[in-house]
Amino acid sequence: MAVARALASPHEDAALSIRPARAEDIAAVSELDAAITGLAKPAYWRDLFERYGTRRQDQRFFLVAESDGEFLGFAIGEIRAWEFGAPPCGWLFAIDVKPDARLTGVGTALFHALCERFRAAGIDKLRTMLARDNHLMLSFFRSQGMMAGPSIQLEMALDDP
Ligand SMILES: CC(C)(COP(=O)(O)OP(=O)(O)OC[C@H]1O[C@@H](n2cnc3c(N)ncnc32)[C@H](O)[C@@H]1OP(=O)(O)O)[C@@H](O)C(=O)NCCC(=O)NCCS
Repeated sequence: MAVARALASPHEDAALSIRPARAEDIAAVSELDAAITGLAKPAYWRDLFERYGTRRQDQRFFLVAESDGEFLGFAIGEIRAWEFGAPPCGWLFAIDVKPDARLTGVGTALFHALCERFRAAGIDKLRTMLARDNHLMLSFFRSQGMMAGPSIQLEMALDDP
């Protein structure tokens, strides 16, 4: 991609913009996810767009990053309240940047845009969850100032009793 990765800083990419996802972005979102995970799931992404890109838009945010009309990545977040007794907080549950657009600040721009929407809705806490061994995501979230929170995750296999 041309924007080039010649940029010294994302803040110099005047063309970079973050906007709400549109239905016509979903093919690119699904394609990016398939390239990263090796699993194509277009119906899943269409459903996510339906739920997070078209309804309750004061609480659900499906954002796309683009430069000169070129899709670069996306992020999805939602305000959730009183789950596990916690007051309303913003959850970031997906963020993905095209491999050839990484390390130029696109992820940071998506992250900040999501935080901005949460703040505007009166939210003062952001949460996310990631695999313990996902060092890339951990480095990214740490670079944004995120640290371990007060909760722990528990799970068990639901085998036949
Ligand atoms: C994590 C991700 C979103 C970062 O996007 P990005 O546009 O490259 O991020 P930025 O350029 O804004 O980087 C911000 C900071 O994150 C950290 N970071 C980003 N990529 C990194 C890497 N490969 N190694 C170490 N730190 C990294 C750095 O601290 C960086 O700041 P710096 O460039 O000043 O060192 C991107 O790598 C990605 O999409 N990875 C795959 C994510 C994924 O699997 N998503 C699916 C599940 S939700």
